[in-house]
Amino acid sequence: MTVAPPIAMLAELTHRCPLSCPYCSNPVQMARQAAELDTATWARVFCEAADLGVLQLHLSGGEPASRRDLTQLVAAARAAGLYTNLITSGIGLTERRLAALDAAGLDHVQLSLQGTDPEMADEIGGYAGGFARKMQVAAWIGDIGFPLTLNVVLHRRNLHQLPRALDMAREMGARRIEIATVQFHGWALKNRDALMPTRDQAREATRIVKEARARLKGQLVIDYVPADYHEEYPKRCMGGWGTSGLNITPDGKVLPCHAAETIPHLSFDRVADKPLGEIWYKGAAFNAYRGTGWMSEPCQSCARKTIDFGGCRCQAMAILGDPSATDPVCVKSPHHSALQAQAQTHAAQADAPLVYRKSPGGNTDPAG
Ligand code: SF4
Ligand code: FES
Repeated sequence: MTVAPPIAMLAELTHRCPLSCPYCSNPVQMARQAAELDTATWARVFCEAADLGVLQLHLSGGEPASRRDLTQLVAAARAAGLYTNLITSGIGLTERRLAALDAAGLDHVQLSLQGTDPEMADEIGGYAGGFARKMQVAAWIGDIGFPLTLNVVLHRRNLHQLPRALDMAREMGARRIEIATVQFHGWALKNRDALMPTRDQAREATRIVKEARARLKGQLVIDYVPADYHEEYPKRCMGGWGTSGLNITPDGKVLPCHAAETIPHLSFDRVADKPLGEIWYKGAAFNAYRGTGWMSEPCQSCARKTIDFGGCRCQAMAILGDPSATDPVCVKSPHHSALQAQAQTHAAQADAPLVYRKSPGGNTDPAG
């Protein structure tokens, strides 16, 4: 098969974060500060990515503002010719730091929202006063004029806040909102009882999004990830494995997706050992589930196999213990009914406590 170059790269600059969101997509075993790639190595990787064909660089974490060299990293990415998007909770950003990021060439900010009021946001983020700081950062982002995307992770506890989140996106001047119903990887997998939406909530969210898309057409772009345990077909995860994007971990492992390390038989190349292009085209992990040749039934003979590529490999691993199985979200999977029943059981655990993400060692908030 012909392999196209990647379009986007997610650089997880650090796993450190002042927040402790219980749905964090970071792995449960996180990289410590001492293992993080240094500024010069990231700058080299950005150049290799641009040479490979990457257009968009998403600077993520943890909280990327926990890196003291964030401004230098943005400047390096810009010098490499990449479009830079900062994915942040806002904690650790000051007005001065944002101005420096602007001067360094930062193109776009994606701000996360844990809830639409201080009670919800601070409880879910596990960080008292976080909501107030975030609102201040949102105002500075507006003053500078960064294009803004608001990112809201929704789950059973905050799905009722979806209408207010849409209003807040408009009030903040965001051009786009990402409404992502929690996906059960990483820490979220430990929190399925606490966070699983009910089927009624999932349906209501889809209705609200449909209505808002019609009402706000031309004003606000709405990206929506539905509650997939309640769906009939799986998501096209990562746009297809090894198809359009790659992730770099804080310590330099190159992954086809953020949860790929949960697939035990895969091994991952490091940016320290091989050029990014060689890893993308020839790396064993990238070729493991590329295209459709690896699929078994029912995917192999399904008309949708180049639409969703069999769904999410990491979800098949997490639920079935088999990363080459059809994503059990799919109605054609023999495990679909069991998954839907499992979702109902999780959603009925009204008093389940939140298991908060723990940050690895190291300073998380250089500005705070
Ligand atoms: Fe997608 Fe496989 Fe289900 Fe077909 S059988 S819809 S390819 S997951
Ligand atoms: Fe890894 Fe979906 S998260 S393939």
